[in-house]
Amino acid sequence: MGLEKKIEEISSEMNNFQVTTPEELEAFRIKFLGSKNCIKGLYQELKTVPNELKKEFGQKINALKQEGEVKFETVKSQVGAANNGSNKEIIDLSRPAEEMAVGSRHPLMVVRNEIIEIFNRIGFNVSEGPEIEDDWHNFSALNFPPEHPARDMQDTFFIEKGENEMALRTHTSSVQVRVMENSKPPIRTISPGRVYRNEAISARAHCFFHQVEGLYIDKNVSFADLKQTLQYFAKEMFGDKTRIRLRPSYFPFTEPSAEVDVSCTLCNGDGCNVCKYTGWLEILGCGMVDPAVLDAANIDSNIYSGFAFGMGIERITQLKYRVGDLRLYSENDIRFLNQFKSAY
Ligand code: PHE
Repeated sequence: MGLEKKIEEISSEMNNFQVTTPEELEAFRIKFLGSKNCIKGLYQELKTVPNELKKEFGQKINALKQEGEVKFETVKSQVGAANNGSNKEIIDLSRPAEEMAVGSRHPLMVVRNEIIEIFNRIGFNVSEGPEIEDDWHNFSALNFPPEHPARDMQDTFFIEKGENEMALRTHTSSVQVRVMENSKPPIRTISPGRVYRNEAISARAHCFFHQVEGLYIDKNVSFADLKQTLQYFAKEMFGDKTRIRLRPSYFPFTEPSAEVDVSCTLCNGDGCNVCKYTGWLEILGCGMVDPAVLDAANIDSNIYSGFAFGMGIERITQLKYRVGDLRLYSENDIRFLNQFKSAY
């Protein structure tokens, strides 16, 4: 058979070669492009062709070789596309998923939420107010005498002095004044929030911290109600065995006033280095609302009485989770925060 005929034959064979599966594609590759392909033999036969025709035939064989490469690339992409449906990568649904990095609530918010929940259960709602306060709500309405040391620059961050005196609130009792001014008794509310005091930052003091203050005003509210409420809170927060004790104290806005201790959460009152071998830990201040405070908020002190209390969330958190250094709360060290992942 002449070379020309052979070229034609291979060319038509190539054109008619059906490629629809990956196997056929491979067969095509072996036959026309592989190391033992049929076009190679044509180059051998080129030797037998007369010299003046060598160039022409050489070009024909080259063209045939190229045709094969082009067809291979075309059918290859067609086969690939057609098989995308059936030969899809298999997804193993039983494989364990990669763990998602979820954040955790800040310990102060965990404890704040818990305090709110405990008081919600006995009918206290939540009230909030501004962190920048005027003198009236932070001091005057709360019966602070004009020269009271708490008004001093050393304790309070003033924003504006003089007639329009504004300061960062030093306690959330200011919120309670607002509630008393804007609603009628019975009032049962707690005010959680951030407060500010001009103190040097150390393990035991910070220039800002968080409080929850409580207020209950109605007819015939007595000191016994206050004690009972605090006893309930202490047991809910620190466990059923917890006892409380009240020590006389002084606040301008309550009379009588008391400071409240709980039996040590670590040694249960036996004495250890956390309670400094006293068996007790101080947690809050409280008292009966001074009649002058009720009257300043337009609540008739001849008809109504009430109690108030205030605690630091940092302190409660310290006792509950044994956090030794106040600064940890605001440093955002992820190693510290991650320890509260399971808390809600
Ligand atoms: N406001 C007080 C404080 O910041 C706490 C307190 C509230 C005490 C209510 C008695 C009654 O220290």
